[in-house]
Amino acid sequence: MSYTNLLLETNHGVTTITINRPKKLNALNKETIGELHDAFKFADQDAETKVIIVTGSGEKAFVAGADISEFSDYSVEEGEMLAANGQKVLFDFVENLSTPVIAAVNGFALGGGLELAMASHFRVASDHAKMGLPEVSLGVIPGYGGTQRLPQLIGKGRAMELIMTAGMIDAKDALNYGLVNHVTTQDELLPLCEKIAGKIARNSSVAIGAAIRSINANFIDGVNGFNTEIKEFGKCFGTEDFTEGTTAFLEKRKTDFPGK
Ligand code: COA
Repeated sequence: MSYTNLLLETNHGVTTITINRPKKLNALNKETIGELHDAFKFADQDAETKVIIVTGSGEKAFVAGADISEFSDYSVEEGEMLAANGQKVLFDFVENLSTPVIAAVNGFALGGGLELAMASHFRVASDHAKMGLPEVSLGVIPGYGGTQRLPQLIGKGRAMELIMTAGMIDAKDALNYGLVNHVTTQDELLPLCEKIAGKIARNSSVAIGAAIRSINANFIDGVNGFNTEIKEFGKCFGTEDFTEGTTAFLEKRKTDFPGK
């Protein structure tokens, strides 16, 4: 499959999706959001892909937000549809994938860019990255899940301040806040993400999918995450990966998970 605004590469079980609109700081226009949906779906269904890394092209930006030029004249109804469609096809979609998604934040992650990083399963940043949700400076609010995921990740008070001030935090503060898991140099960003991805890829992909669903259940209204965990735990016992994992341990050999 070929994309206008994305680059895709798969190496050693890791598919890297690079958002490639550097002249627009990788801003998410409608076409890019549609392509991202297709690329994440493709990678999730690809038997070779164990982990997905999402990043931005160039040195300056991960993603500088939703493409402001596309919605500046929208009506109330169009605004609501923009948020609803975006959440469905990209942000909720990514969060609920069974394949782990790591956001490699290589520069500005603003608005929809930070929202995409937050919908990913975790984040690693380069030391010059800057993150924020500046929407109120445009007279709007984050619409791709930012008002929900930012407080989940950094706490309500910090999220309130960051969103109200339309400010940006640097990578060091993002690490202190728990918004990103690691900070490294720009050169080491992808190698570090690939190293973490390699550790993940050695484990049972079926069990990892079950863990993602169970962890996410904690953040869904009306769902008891402990019950989800019990059900997902039980289902693991019926998988070939469980048989392989426990047998390999008892036989004192390395696992070779079939991913089923
Ligand atoms: N939507 C559309 N275009 C964007 C964009 C966005 N979110 N962010 C950057 N761009 C475009 C700029 O319009 C510019 O295009 P041009 O060269 O055709 O004029 C290009 O990307 C480079 O951006 P520029 O503003 O010139 O770079 P800078 O280094 O001076 O500033 C930022 C960088 C990130 C601080 C600045 O681009 C910015 O504030 N962007 C918008 C961030 C935002 O509000 N995001 C939330 C959107 S809801």
